Amino acid sequence: MRINKSKVAIVGCGLVGASTGFSLLTQGVCDEIIMIDINKEKALGEVLDMRDDVEYLNRNTKVMTGDYADCKDADIVVITAGAPPKKGQSRLDTLEVSAKIAKSIVEPIMAAGFDGIFIVISNPVDIIAHYVQKISNLPKNQVIGTGTALDSARLKNIIAEIVHVDPRSVYAYSLGEHGDSQMVPWSLVTVGGKKFYDIVLDNPELMKGIELDDIVNKTIRAGWEIYDRKGTTSFGIATAAVGIIKAILNDENKIIPVSTYLDGEYGQSDVYLGVPVILNRNGVSDILELHMLEDEKQRFNRSAETVRAYAKDYFKKVGLL
Ligand code: 2OP
Repeated sequence: MRINKSKVAIVGCGLVGASTGFSLLTQGVCDEIIMIDINKEKALGEVLDMRDDVEYLNRNTKVMTGDYADCKDADIVVITAGAPPKKGQSRLDTLEVSAKIAKSIVEPIMAAGFDGIFIVISNPVDIIAHYVQKISNLPKNQVIGTGTALDSARLKNIIAEIVHVDPRSVYAYSLGEHGDSQMVPWSLVTVGGKKFYDIVLDNPELMKGIELDDIVNKTIRAGWEIYDRKGTTSFGIATAAVGIIKAILNDENKIIPVSTYLDGEYGQSDVYLGVPVILNRNGVSDILELHMLEDEKQRFNRSAETVRAYAKDYFKKVGLL
């Protein structure tokens, strides 16, 4: 009897990689988890710590250390290794170092014969995902950045707090760069199917003293509020990545805003940006093209230009353009 084993490799066993492995393990998402790090002892420490959990979980997931050659038959490889921003830096400022790390990871994995799906967490995630697609030459639907999946979750939390509902009853996207230029198409935000604009009209007291831009800025700042206190973020990004992995491994056709290659969608080409996509076992199966208002399109385009400018400079510098 053929039993297809699902295997996810996580490259980088820092807080983000370890949290991603732990979230995968406790949610019982796959059969095998491979933890990879240049610091072999660190990887082994995380694996030993995770193995102790199996007794109290619903699934006997095999957790082991490995190296890039073990990614050959992995369904998904998650790239978490990257350079954390220094005080005052933006995610974009870490591009050069993170891209070099990504190259040192992707090349040996591709040499091992990997033909699965890369999920990129390393920042600046839109450009690193684009870079990974270029150097791996995998089909674009197989290279996915976590993008604004986490920003959208943060946005939904903030809106849910204002209207006093479960964040999962809020439908809202943050789009574009996973960074300072991301934008929210407010005309498309709904709560339980009711337009957010109508909720505010019917309940003006809810938004007393709150501007929509305040909510966007709070969403953008959310990562930094955590980073400034614990030196990184980990649980949110890890669980967002696992949400993407579940949609792929379970062939869910779930819609999640991730960083994906645009080839004319949203009027943008040759750039990776956070937009809603349909995810299934093929990775990005389709891009959901939202109809935004003119001013929303302009804000999205500005975000696209921000990402494209940094990406173009770097790709030119490394001879990829
Ligand atoms: C965040 O915003 C890690 O960039 C990621 O938490």
